[in-house]
Amino acid sequence: MTNIAVVVGSTREGSFNRMLGKLAIRALEAKGAIVADVDLSDFDLPLYSAAREAEAFPADAERLKRLFAAQDGLLFVSPEYNGSVSPLLKNAIDWASRPTGDESLVALSAYRGKASAVMAASIGPFGGLRGLMHLRQILSTIQTLVIPEQVLVPNAHAAFDADGNLVEALPATLVEMTAARLVAVAKALAV
Ligand SMILES: Cc1cc2nc3c(=O)[nH]c(=O)nc-3n(C[C@H](O)[C@H](O)[C@H](O)COP(=O)(O)O)c2cc1C
Repeated sequence: MTNIAVVVGSTREGSFNRMLGKLAIRALEAKGAIVADVDLSDFDLPLYSAAREAEAFPADAERLKRLFAAQDGLLFVSPEYNGSVSPLLKNAIDWASRPTGDESLVALSAYRGKASAVMAASIGPFGGLRGLMHLRQILSTIQTLVIPEQVLVPNAHAAFDADGNLVEALPATLVEMTAARLVAVAKALAV
């Protein structure tokens, strides 16, 4: 059994990244993964600050961290904001990277040794490519193995049909390929 969490970096009503995340979940499940669909609006995460952390570790940050820790793989689907990942997503990643209990500073127990993958949908012509380059770097820094496959959906406002499927064959194929590789690598790393 391979457990994968899908985390979408937008909580916007009608989010294109949420639509892409839904397709990824379907593809991951078709490949046999047990998927945790993480909606960040279900988590009350203050903006990370050391002062806030010293007061008390937020209960929802701990809940998110535990959820990540229970996975074999993590898929992040993020919009690009000014050439980088959304602050919503970065904040969530940062909280879950923090040590809790008697963990060392570099334990990274939510992430270390897991496979990860990235996808983006953007209303721009580049599909969120710059944001995904940052996201790859972040995911490597926190000790996940980022698979090479990825999905970019440019012109996202015109990329989905009425049923939420991708109009173009290429990104649709890449969703399948990325899901397949993520499940395979997550499974291999879990043994
Ligand atoms: C603060 C901000 C910065 C943005 N910067 C970029 C950008 O650098 N590149 C891009 O392609 N789109 C950018 N966008 C547009 C997003 O691609 C667009 O809002 C997209 O719909 C967000 O994803 P969502 O539909 O999942 O919420 C930006 C949007 C916001 C709100």
